[in-house]
Amino acid sequence: MRIHCKVVVIAVCFGVFLLLYFLGGNAADDPLLKEVEEDQEEEDSESFPSPSKLGSDAAAKFARKSATGVGVRAEETLKREKEGRAIKRGGSVKAKSRSRNNVARPVSKRTRAQEVMHLAVVACGNRLDETLTMLKSALLFSLKKIKFHIFAEDPLAPQFEERLNQWPVSVSAKFQYSIYPISFSVGNAEEWKKLFKPCAAQRLFLPVILKDVDSLLYVDTDVLFLRPMDDLWRLLKSFNGTQLAAMAPEHEVPKIGWYSRFARHPYYGVTGVNSGVMLMNLTRIRSTLFKNSMIPSGLSWEDLLHPLYQKYKNHITWGDQDLLNIIFHYNPECLYTFACQWNYRPDHCMYGSNCKGAEEEGVSILHGNRGVYHDDKQPAFKVVYDGIRDFPFEDNMFQSLFFPIQTKFLDTVNTLCGRIPQVFLKQIEKTMKKVFEEKVVRHVKPRK
Ligand SMILES: *[C@@H]1O[C@H](CO)[C@@H](O)[C@H](O)[C@H]1NC(C)=O
Ligand SMILES: *[C@@H]1O[C@H](CO)[C@@H](O)[C@H](O)[C@H]1NC(C)=O
Repeated sequence: MRIHCKVVVIAVCFGVFLLLYFLGGNAADDPLLKEVEEDQEEEDSESFPSPSKLGSDAAAKFARKSATGVGVRAEETLKREKEGRAIKRGGSVKAKSRSRNNVARPVSKRTRAQEVMHLAVVACGNRLDETLTMLKSALLFSLKKIKFHIFAEDPLAPQFEERLNQWPVSVSAKFQYSIYPISFSVGNAEEWKKLFKPCAAQRLFLPVILKDVDSLLYVDTDVLFLRPMDDLWRLLKSFNGTQLAAMAPEHEVPKIGWYSRFARHPYYGVTGVNSGVMLMNLTRIRSTLFKNSMIPSGLSWEDLLHPLYQKYKNHITWGDQDLLNIIFHYNPECLYTFACQWNYRPDHCMYGSNCKGAEEEGVSILHGNRGVYHDDKQPAFKVVYDGIRDFPFEDNMFQSLFFPIQTKFLDTVNTLCGRIPQVFLKQIEKTMKKVFEEKVVRHVKPRK
C-alpha cells in the first residue's frame, strides 16, 4: 500500500512539473530549471584543470598549443625534464582528438560539477579489460566528471588510449584521462616492482608523483562501482583535522581475519585495512610527518617508504597493503575507516554473510579479488562483472544491464555468495532508478 502511495505522489509531482513546464511558457521561471541552467553555465566556465597540472610545464605548453589538452598522455612528462627535451618528446604527448568534448556535453547538464573527481588505478600484465570495465562502471553511475590517472606498463598504455578513445561522445564528455608509465621515485625500482603483484607498489608513490592533485580515489583494477563514485568522494569532506586517507577493514570477523591470525608485523586496528579502495587527501599526506618505529621525530611520506620497506620486507606478505597497515598502525588518527559495503569482497560472503552494511543497503563497491571475475569460484561476482563489461554504452540500463544481471544471478543461488542476491542487487537497482529519473527530467528540460 505504501509503495502505491509513493508511486501516486511521484506521478502527481511529475504531472505538475510537466504542466508547469508546458503551460508556464517561460521555462526559466521554474526554479528547478533555473538551477539546472545555472549549473550549466558554471560548468562551462569551469572546465577541467589545465594539463600543466598533470605533467611537466613544457609538455603542458606543448599540449595546450597543439589541441584541447584533453586526453594528454603524460608519459615521460613526470620527471620535469628540461623544456627542450620535453618538447622533443612531444610525440608521446598525445593531446589528440577529443575536442568534441568541448562541444557536446549533454550528460553533464544535470550535475553540480564544481569539482572534478580523481580516480587512480595501476594496471599491469593482462589487466586491460578488467581495468576498462572498472572505469566504465565509474562512468555509468557517477554524476560529477572524473579525471582518470592510469598507470600502465608499456604494452598496455597505447591499448588504453585506443579503447578509451572509442567510447561514445556522451560518455567521453564525462571524463578525461592521463596515462603514466610505472615509476618508483625512491629506492630500487626493480625491488619495488617485485613487491606483491606487479606494479602494485606504484600506488604508494601517488602523493609524490601527482604533486598537483589534491585528493584522489585509488582502486584496484578488480573493483566495480555499483553506485555513483560521488557518494564515496563526499567522504573526503567528512575527514576530521588529522585524517588523510580512508579505507575499509580487511575483515569483519577477527577470528577469521588474515592479519589477526597470521601477520608478523603491526597492522591497523583489530583486523587491519584493505587497500583495494582507498581515498587519499594527497595534500595532507604530503604535508604530514608520520610517526614510525625508526625515527622519533617522524618522517614525511616520501622519506618514510623506503626505510619502512627495508625494515619489514622479510615480514610482509601482501606488499603495499601491509606497508599501509604498518603506517596507520603508528598513525591511527590519520585514517578514516568506511564500512564494508564500500569494498565488498568474497570474504564477506564465502564464510557466511558478515557485512552488515551490505545486507542493509546493498553493495556499493564490489571488489572481486582472488581473480573471481575470471574463474567459476564465486559466480555471483562474475555475473556482475560480465554484465557491466558487456553492457553497450547508451542502451537502456534496466533492459541491458540490470535485468540480465538479475536473470543470471538466479543461476548462482546455490553458491555461497549467490544465495544473498539482495545484497548484490539492491544498490545497483537503486542507482539505476536514480539515473533513469535524472534522464527523464533532463529530457524535459528545454534545449537552447
Ligand atoms: C585536503 O586537505 C587540504 C588541507 O587540509 C584541504 O585544503 C582540502 O580541501 C582537502 N581536500 C578535500 C577534497 O577535502
Ligand atoms: C579524528 O578521528 C580519529 C579517529 O576516528 C581520532 O583518532 C582523531 O583524534 C581525530 N582527530 C581530531 C583532530 O579530532
